[in-house]
Amino acid sequence: MKGSFITFEGIDGSGKTTQLERLAESLRHSGRDVLITCEPGGTPLGRELRKAFLETKQDVEPLAELLLFAADRAQHVQHLIRPALAEGKIVISDRYADATTAYQGAGRGFDLKLIENVTAIATGGLKPDLTLFFDIEPQAAVDRMEFRAAHKKNRMDLEPLEFYERVRDAYLRIAAAEPERFRVIDAGRGIDEIAAETLEAVTEMLDRV
Ligand code: ADP
Ligand code: TYD
Repeated sequence: MKGSFITFEGIDGSGKTTQLERLAESLRHSGRDVLITCEPGGTPLGRELRKAFLETKQDVEPLAELLLFAADRAQHVQHLIRPALAEGKIVISDRYADATTAYQGAGRGFDLKLIENVTAIATGGLKPDLTLFFDIEPQAAVDRMEFRAAHKKNRMDLEPLEFYERVRDAYLRIAAAEPERFRVIDAGRGIDEIAAETLEAVTEMLDRV
């Protein structure tokens, strides 16, 4: 039995988490076996790593950051994602490897070939069947996050707007390069409208496989 692997990508505040919960609820309602997870922090070790390098005031070396996201991913793939897929589950992850290409590549300026190699090692070549990119203007995402009263800022949330412009452009480039795997969703709309398009994209993929 082989499940399906779906990833959600987008800049912080694009509404991924909101949509992920909505999608999981719809899929479960129709009787599907769904596992929701996230990066970083999808496993107990990953949560410890996430705390150590994202919720810290220490100066984190960009190379250390790149490798720590990869370490989190290696644990996530082996301990959670692959076993769930082997059981036939639909695994939906709030971010995966494309986040490293966008944030550490375009955001931090790492060479894309290096990122490709690190990602191949961390994932053992596991690619999503479908990736949804929730596209929003960075300023609109910042406005949403400021609105979110309980939002706890981590190191990545403190980057200037220009950083998110670069990350967004990178996501759009990755999506254009792999149109079969990606679907770009206009995330500047209302929650219900986005949820309907999300469910349609996922149902279409599930019916195909
Ligand atoms: P992300 O996981 O991408 O950081 P969230 O789902 O946590 O984004 O959403 C960020 C904030 O924006 C939350 O306060 C959420 O309630 C709000 N939000 C999510 N989707 C929308 C939307 N379509 N329109 C307006 N606000 C939204
Ligand atoms: P987190 O608080 O876990 O997620 P969110 O803000 O979406 O609730 O923050 C994770 C941060 O790490 C987010 O800014 C994106 C960033 N990130 C990378 O820079 N590279 C990666 O490979 C991943 C998975 C995330």
